[in-house]
Amino acid sequence: MRIDGKVAFITGASGGIGAACAAEFARAGARLALAARSAEGLTRSDPGGALLLPSDLTQDDARRQAVARAIERFGQIDILINNAGVGAYGPSFAAPLDETRRMMELNFFVPLALTQLVAPEMRARRSGTIVNVGSIGGKVTLPWMTLYCASKYALAGWTDGLRMELARDGVHTLLVCPGYVVTGFQQHVLAGGPPPAVVRARRFAITAAECARAIRRGVERDARTVVAPPSGWLLVLAARLAPALVHGRMARMLGAS
Ligand SMILES: NC(=O)c1ccc[n+]([C@@H]2O[C@H](COP(=O)([O-])OP(=O)(O)OC[C@H]3O[C@@H](n4cnc5c(N)ncnc54)[C@H](OP(=O)(O)O)[C@@H]3O)[C@@H](O)[C@H]2O)c1
Repeated sequence: MRIDGKVAFITGASGGIGAACAAEFARAGARLALAARSAEGLTRSDPGGALLLPSDLTQDDARRQAVARAIERFGQIDILINNAGVGAYGPSFAAPLDETRRMMELNFFVPLALTQLVAPEMRARRSGTIVNVGSIGGKVTLPWMTLYCASKYALAGWTDGLRMELARDGVHTLLVCPGYVVTGFQQHVLAGGPPPAVVRARRFAITAAECARAIRRGVERDARTVVAPPSGWLLVLAARLAPALVHGRMARMLGAS
């Protein structure tokens, strides 16, 4: 899709990857609707002239109002970037269910609900792109955040189905699978923290701006899946070809000090 002049609705735009997407898509000529809970954060992310929609997107009314205000202002939404998300560390066998449900709500049900609000109009116009920001952890389970990965597997599985459902309507669906990206994500997790061996692996991290650039390029070329950085495909491939080896290695990282 050509981004210039299009309307992009970006969730989780008060910081991190969402804020970087706001800057990247504005540079490409998009008009922006930015949603997150923090009004202050949204103001910081505004590259100029964006519609700011401070809202808790886990609330049905807030979601409806945010989408309605964007359509009232711009007439339509061309690109929906479902980026807001949260993580949690710790063993799944001991994770509090209410916390896990909150994570599922934001990481899976919010993108689904927003898509249900936006897709009918995209289908009618036979144009639009839905971007779901998943994770490399939605392709390869990371045992230090098993339930977060489960939420991203749910998102990835649904995204594949959505792509097939919408293919004949001219609406594209892109799954983004970032590896480690330097943002406030680690500070915002609902629980726990990574084991030391994982912290050391952060030397492979990319910046939020690099991730946003990969997302913008993915939208421009109507890609199906973007892994950022692309070297993440090696891990995905290794886990497909030799799951016992990769899982064994990761289980050791979980226990190592
Ligand atoms: N950073 C990484 O290494 C990494 C790796 C793979 C995938 N990802 C995924 O990338 C996406 C962005 O993460 P990030 O790294 O940019 O993390 P982040 O800096 O913590 O940003 C998360 C965003 O979600 C928003 N948010 C949280 N709860 C919300 C709610 N109830 N309603 C509306 N907005 C809400 C936050 O804003 P408010 O607090 O203002 O609401 C914030 O803008 C997530 O889906 C994450 O799972 C990140």
